[in-house]
Amino acid sequence: MDIIQIKGGNFLEGEINISGSKNASLPMIIASLLTEDKIKIRNIPNLSDVFTLLKLIKSLGSEFELINEDNSTYKLIIQTKKIKSNIAPYDLVRKMRASFWVLAPLILRYGEAKVSLPGGCAIGTRPINFYLSILKKMGALIKIKDGYVKASIKNNLKPINYKLDFPSVGVTHFFLMISSLIEGESIIRNAAIEPEIISLAEMLNKMGAKIKGYGTSKIVIKGCSKLKGTDITIPSDRIEAGTFALAVTATGGKLKLKSINIKEIEALKNVLQNTDVEIKSLENSIEIIKKNGVIHPIDIETKPYPGFPTDLQAQFMALMAYSNGKSKIKETIFENRFMHVQELVRMGGDISLAGNTAIIKGKKDCLHSAPVMATDLRASASLVLAGLVARGETKIDRIYHIDRGYERIEEKLNSLGANIERVNA
Ligand code: UD1
Repeated sequence: MDIIQIKGGNFLEGEINISGSKNASLPMIIASLLTEDKIKIRNIPNLSDVFTLLKLIKSLGSEFELINEDNSTYKLIIQTKKIKSNIAPYDLVRKMRASFWVLAPLILRYGEAKVSLPGGCAIGTRPINFYLSILKKMGALIKIKDGYVKASIKNNLKPINYKLDFPSVGVTHFFLMISSLIEGESIIRNAAIEPEIISLAEMLNKMGAKIKGYGTSKIVIKGCSKLKGTDITIPSDRIEAGTFALAVTATGGKLKLKSINIKEIEALKNVLQNTDVEIKSLENSIEIIKKNGVIHPIDIETKPYPGFPTDLQAQFMALMAYSNGKSKIKETIFENRFMHVQELVRMGGDISLAGNTAIIKGKKDCLHSAPVMATDLRASASLVLAGLVARGETKIDRIYHIDRGYERIEEKLNSLGANIERVNA
């Protein structure tokens, strides 16, 4: 199995292009199943989550061509003339929870669907109660049996007016997809307002739905009986951008992140400025300059967009472990997203947990080499960040997690001056 080895201590300097967004790609690929027409999706990132999803939708009847555009990103031409299977099996849904969203096109186009329960994962129990309550209100019959959700419809699903208890990103995606093919007006309140919701809504509108209010907490969807093909581009990955911004803050140096939407990383930008880093916003790019080795500690709390993203919490913790004092990180989105703590402690971090808050006693130069294990996608990124500043050589096991969400991470970091390699151990 591959591991990542990092020799820490190098500055990062140079510029990189930020890849297409993982979290925008996944719902947009699934939305292509809502029509029998051809869909073109550009700037698809080269990530294992994308390939896991393509494997699943191929088994459901999609035919596609993946055209390598520039050595990394892909153009996907996809068509699902007919849904041939209505089953999303455990081994694929377990690998990637977003697979669960195929329930929307399956029930709409096949009339019934059997989709594995996603189960818990390293970051928490992750229930699906909102999905099930929406489906029931729309008139679907739901049974949970043998680890699967079996959903079927007798008559057409009906439009509903639904208020979410929490602005769930996945449930908002699901609601938009399903309502786009239900004739009449559906409303979702307390909806997620993440940029990925906007990307999906824009795609569905190009396919013929009439969605208004996306990007706000009340979205109104006028669905139609048939959606058509479209041609759309995936925006850049705000979490990848944030991870690199945190990396250069930790190592010191000067880094330009290109092809990004600066507005989408505003929360991180504000926090980083308080840690004593210079940030210059340019057109579609940002320059981060870290001259001195002083990182001021700062408390954060993860929040739905536009708050500080939970997907950058682990990486931020690695930075705080290396800062000049005490900080607190409160995780409010997922109840157990602290699996990286014990690994950072193995590397010398002084971190303790009190409920959903991590208390970090930061100390410059406290991090040192150790064999560590990636437990989930963003946790693996936090270990890479820690490895970049740690004394000695850090070895990170189970790095398949990182390939789920970071395209060519070693190549990008090495081009900036890091010393990181993937080896078969
Ligand atoms: C998405 C992102 C993930 C990110 C998360 C929060 C993708 C592929 N993944 O995950 O990277 O960390 O948003 O920004 O886009 N919840 C319920 N019941 C439900 C559904 C969700 O209680 O039926 C809860 C969850 O347990 C969690 C909270 O809602 O506590 C937010 O989760 P949600 O926004 O749904 O996350 P995902 O869409 O799974």
